[in-house]
Amino acid sequence: MCGIIGYTGNNQAMPVIIKGLKTLEYRGYDSSGIALSDHKNFSVFKSEGKLENLIEKTKNLNNLSETGIGHTRWATHGKTNETNAHPHTSEDGMFTVVHNGIIENAEIIKEALESKGYRFISDTDTEVIPQLLSYHYDGNVPEAMRKTFSSLDGSFAVAILCRNEPGTIYAAKRQSPLVVGKGENENLLASDICALSEHAEVFSYLEDGEFAVIRKDSINFFDSSLKPIEKSFKKITTESSDNSKGNFEHYMLKEIFQQPEKIRNLLKDKIKNKKIFLNEIAELSLDITKAERLYIVACGSAYHAALAGKFAIEEMCRIPVEVDVASEFRYRNPPVSCNTPVIIISQSGETADSIAALRLANSRGAIVIGIVNVLPSTIANESDYVIATKAGREIAVATTKGYSTQVAALYMLALHIAGIKKTLTDKQLEFFTNELIEIPEKIEKILSDSDTIENISEKYKEKKELFFIGRNTDFAAAAEASLKLKEISYINSSAFAAGELKHGTIALIENNTPVVALCSNKQLLKKTLSNIEEAFSRGADILCVCKDKTFCNKNYKTIIIPDCTDIFTPLLEIIPMQLFAYYVAKKRGCDIDMPKNLAKSVTVE
Ligand code: G6P
Repeated sequence: MCGIIGYTGNNQAMPVIIKGLKTLEYRGYDSSGIALSDHKNFSVFKSEGKLENLIEKTKNLNNLSETGIGHTRWATHGKTNETNAHPHTSEDGMFTVVHNGIIENAEIIKEALESKGYRFISDTDTEVIPQLLSYHYDGNVPEAMRKTFSSLDGSFAVAILCRNEPGTIYAAKRQSPLVVGKGENENLLASDICALSEHAEVFSYLEDGEFAVIRKDSINFFDSSLKPIEKSFKKITTESSDNSKGNFEHYMLKEIFQQPEKIRNLLKDKIKNKKIFLNEIAELSLDITKAERLYIVACGSAYHAALAGKFAIEEMCRIPVEVDVASEFRYRNPPVSCNTPVIIISQSGETADSIAALRLANSRGAIVIGIVNVLPSTIANESDYVIATKAGREIAVATTKGYSTQVAALYMLALHIAGIKKTLTDKQLEFFTNELIEIPEKIEKILSDSDTIENISEKYKEKKELFFIGRNTDFAAAAEASLKLKEISYINSSAFAAGELKHGTIALIENNTPVVALCSNKQLLKKTLSNIEEAFSRGADILCVCKDKTFCNKNYKTIIIPDCTDIFTPLLEIIPMQLFAYYVAKKRGCDIDMPKNLAKSVTVE
């Protein structure tokens, strides 16, 4: 979370930084700020709210400075106001800093500095950094950095300007991502390579504990004891993506409609002799048939993708699968070993908890398979094997194509392993492969009827809460459907295994309580219908997502999806549910692409 950028070169810094911040805004957008290095001072501009506000505030300035740093914030400490927005400057005005991460011992440092007479103006953890730099500074910035950063606990990617050294940006990193880009007479750094690609062609990622000193004509790296180090720069071609909304009102809607193409693209080249084969893991250094268990670890929607994948892998490969949220997995001493491969799923490849889970798995000798969209990224770099989900850049904060390509990748993985383990016959493999190939066309069919879902969504816009229920694969999709609605419409919703309803939650059902029942799993249809009926008899207003409405009580509203084998239904069911969430949010006038309080890449734990 939080995006940082720094620029020094022959161009005016402000437009470069603003443009870079625009591409980093997915990391947080509750406030933003910029500091430009003038000869004997800094000019600092900050605004609460989205970057547009900062742009508006600075639009008539013609600041000629060629060096500056910028920040787009997702608050971790302190309210979202201008005072807490970055950059933060030391009381003596010597240092100004932008930071992504969390300083865990900020309170103790603050108290110690306050006892020496330092005054703080913000409620942030970050403010201790410039103050501490100033405290340690005796004319030598790297030395002040060494002392400062060795005393900090927590995570940081930091860009620093020092008043005495206009034209120089200092940088430090621990855990949070930071990449340096080299251009011609201009050099930059940022949290994400996509913010640099217009000005740099070669890039170098900082490792934990390293420092960088960036000037327009030189970049120097040091280790944590200030010993100079050589780092190579690599040409990395970032995907040139179409960043426009096209004919769509929101990025989210565009991305929902991109799903058939993205899944098709993912499946391309994976089918050999009518079966799925993943070259990416062909050389797996463990005989997968000997795996005792698989762990799938992820956060948010990626965790829901894992839930869907679990059913497919257990069913097709007969390997037990344990699914865990990364923030729990990393602190629960899981029995991971070289016989239990760990699959880490992440759209961004930078989620802090998922990275920590990956490192834990690595330290226990487990093989790690990353299912990742953004390449390069920390999770992709540190995984032993990578399956790229190829969804392209996802701009809307609420994931859609990111999620569905993760689910499709898990299905491919299940079929790949089943082929090697021979837990499915050739005929079965061919059947499932064909079913998977047909999914994009079936999604297109659902999308072609988006008006129906828009109409259905109308009456839900006034609701205060909703329940989503389903069994097995339907439950996996229900969990994601509920999250989608919650994050963009701000309507409270929860997902329950349909059979669990009667064990407590049914107490909340009363007249007109909206219940969305996912009941596309044909094998469990009768069981789920009984649970739906239980809710209906207590007054619930039922909307069913199913493949065949003939079994449904005629008092239920229905969304019909095309038929497919039960195991793959989450990939179809989620489509009307994404549209449902989208239209409900739209009718409520919500900020769909940038919902409040969220960020697309969560780089703090
Ligand atoms: C954030 C995003 C979610 C995403 C989750 C995990 O919360 O808003 O959409 O599912 O992070 O992100 P990852 O990049 O690891 O898939």
